[in-house]
Amino acid sequence: MTVNADSSFSIASSWRDLPAAQQPEYPDLEALRAVTADIEGYPPLVFAGEADQLRARLASVARGEAFLLQGGDCAEAFDQVSADQIRAKLKTLLQMSAVLTYAAAVPVVKVGRIAGQYSKPRSKSTETRDGVSLPSYRGDSVNGPEFTPEARIPDPERLRRMYHASAATLNLVRGFTTGGYADLRQVHAWNQDFVRTSASGQRYEALAREIDNALNFMKACGADPAEFHSVEFYASHEALLLDYEAALTRVDSRSGRLYDVSGHMVWIGERTRQLDGAHIAFAASISNPIGVKIGPTTTPEEALALIDRLDPEREAGRLTFITRMGADKIRDLLPPLVERVTASGAEVAWVCDPMHGNTFEAASGHKTRRFDDVLDEVKGFFEVHKGLGTHPGGIHVELTGDDVTECVGGGNEILVDDLHQRYETACDPRLNRSQSLDLAFLVAEMYRG
Ligand code: PEP
Ligand code: CO
Repeated sequence: MTVNADSSFSIASSWRDLPAAQQPEYPDLEALRAVTADIEGYPPLVFAGEADQLRARLASVARGEAFLLQGGDCAEAFDQVSADQIRAKLKTLLQMSAVLTYAAAVPVVKVGRIAGQYSKPRSKSTETRDGVSLPSYRGDSVNGPEFTPEARIPDPERLRRMYHASAATLNLVRGFTTGGYADLRQVHAWNQDFVRTSASGQRYEALAREIDNALNFMKACGADPAEFHSVEFYASHEALLLDYEAALTRVDSRSGRLYDVSGHMVWIGERTRQLDGAHIAFAASISNPIGVKIGPTTTPEEALALIDRLDPEREAGRLTFITRMGADKIRDLLPPLVERVTASGAEVAWVCDPMHGNTFEAASGHKTRRFDDVLDEVKGFFEVHKGLGTHPGGIHVELTGDDVTECVGGGNEILVDDLHQRYETACDPRLNRSQSLDLAFLVAEMYRG
């Protein structure tokens, strides 16, 4: 949407008159206003031109020429903004991307759930333990995870911390991805601490040797393109807290359009995608690439209405539908959506989130997912698109670079009885490094299919 600077305020805030689901109930609105006024003066975390570049990459995904790998924590946490943890996540994504690029021979668009993924929608507004009920934890940007009345009070100062944590994370991500660490000749180095202990690490090592041979061959031929020395990596998160996202929404001086400069891509979650709600109105006002989570209740009419609202110009790359149906439903529920959207002439990118439709509670009380269900949902996604002649555009996954025990199954099998060993997520269970690599190899096979 093009605006002049004078009207930007009213357009950026038109969502304020609409119902906004899942917003914190701040006890002190003056304090909230003081914090958001400060954030309005902070420098952008990303540039509009970078968001445009990602939109162009996602247009390739929508057209069937590239594959989106979007992944990271369910919820980032302030006390996990460390070089080791950020590097491990990046390493995992780079390894997955190398597997997909080489084994499926497709360009991979790399987008982290990173540097801003601090806010969580919750199905229940309270949490009860031993007969005591407190407001739910809504992510480090809102309140604290500790089960005390004080920690659970929404604190607007946390928005400021989210900005700084995002800035620190993004700074390191930019350093890693352009400063030599992501050079393709590091394919072995990304695997070093991992290879001996796991079958997927060994499988990766074999693939890395092939990549090495190909690089040596090309170098001997005199080809050493700049693309091999750094990677394009983008940051994304759920645009949940509208006070924060709006405070970081700015008019781009080149185009006069509004951009949310808190991340390159933002998505609207399954619980906040109401057509007449504030989140969709906010997303419609900005020019970033937008994702929308599409769950099992979504009708084709709703999908078409979302396209009308968010992509009225039918511009490939603007809108990504991230489907999260559940392994047992995707084969029935996805085809009518894809058929109707395709028939409408819209060019959306279709991406599979095989995580959020497959969560259950283990007998131990841990929220978990089965690796086999995750895999089966991705399989169903590929089958549906193959059947309809449309493009399976990518995967959206919750993962970490650490060897956590949060999802069951995988090549290095984690059993329900192992879950307690290293269960560290602040919200939903994530694939660990070995499970993530297993998934990348299996997805590459399906893509080649
Ligand atoms: C998430 O991505 O962590 C999430 C809450 O997803 P959804 O909106 O699809 O439930
Ligand atoms: Co999640």
